[in-house]
Amino acid sequence: DWIMRDHIEEAVQAIRAQVGDEEVLLGLSGGVDSSVAAALIHRAIGEQLTCVFVDHGLLRLNEADMVMDMFAGKLHAKVIRVDASDLFLRELAGVTDPEAKRKIIGRLFVDVFKAEAEKLKAARPGSKGIQWLAQGTIYPDVIESGGAKSKKAVTIKSHHNVGGLPEQLGLKLLEPLRDLFKDEVRELGVALGLPHDMVYRHPFPGPGLGVRILGEVKKEYADLLRRADAIFIEELRSTIEPHSGKPWYDLVSQAFAVFLPVKSVGVMGDGRTYDYVVALRAVQTSDFMTADWAELPYSLLKRVSSRIINEVRGINRVTYDVSSKPPATIEWE
Ligand code: XMP
Repeated sequence: DWIMRDHIEEAVQAIRAQVGDEEVLLGLSGGVDSSVAAALIHRAIGEQLTCVFVDHGLLRLNEADMVMDMFAGKLHAKVIRVDASDLFLRELAGVTDPEAKRKIIGRLFVDVFKAEAEKLKAARPGSKGIQWLAQGTIYPDVIESGGAKSKKAVTIKSHHNVGGLPEQLGLKLLEPLRDLFKDEVRELGVALGLPHDMVYRHPFPGPGLGVRILGEVKKEYADLLRRADAIFIEELRSTIEPHSGKPWYDLVSQAFAVFLPVKSVGVMGDGRTYDYVVALRAVQTSDFMTADWAELPYSLLKRVSSRIINEVRGINRVTYDVSSKPPATIEWE
């Protein structure tokens, strides 16, 4: 609509005025905020924007390829993909404590991003080098960083909207979304041409599958979990709830699979199996501070469970999490 077009035009002019002929760096995570910030800044200054996408190997199925396809492929933005999965897995080996895992993932993420930024900052022939760091900070982040924060919230913020990073890198800070609420960010994203499914995706934690694999993170576990999770999400997207006419995906606030590193016995054909377990989690919430487990139809759960067990060799049991928050949290770690 025209209000949104006006808003985009205004934001574009503001970014151009602020940045001039200088260059901007942005850390793309695949999340809504950094994606919309990237699309907006790209609209404003095109080639003067360079995005760095750190793939920590703990993303969802095909997520890294989808991000690259969208930004590099369709928007023709400059995106550098850093595949750091081996580094993350190496550093996470043997670590089981959830907060320790969060710290390691957060620290490595910053390290890898900083190293890439330092390389890019160095002036190249015909360019002054990068002078700005763009972040997808939105209005609720601005408020939150003023007030009291939970331990988790601190980690969340230190992960994506990294405090102090611009200073450490000697870059000026560009935050084009800082006056917007989440809903407005989503509308802006759609108006900028980002796909609806990307912009209305459920939240995904910065540490990714790192906190959805209980205990030690292993590549084998991540690979199994990615496939189970993708089946769950696919069925939620394709199953329409008849009264609202909406897919179940849109009726829950967050849904995902969790990998449990325990083995249980099963039968398959003539044989006995001894394989891993996944738990499905789907919640409804307005603020993520409290949440109810979603009353998904049994028929949907049945289809998801049978698909996971049949299609993902290595998983022979699926459970559904019927715990609300509090006292349980949404994530299992
Ligand atoms: P919990 O598990 O605390 O989750 O009920 C509340 C919301 O926060 C998300 N979450 C995180 N997001 N880094 C993030 O970026 C984290 O370490 C983290 N831990 C939880 C969770 O997915 C849910 O939406």
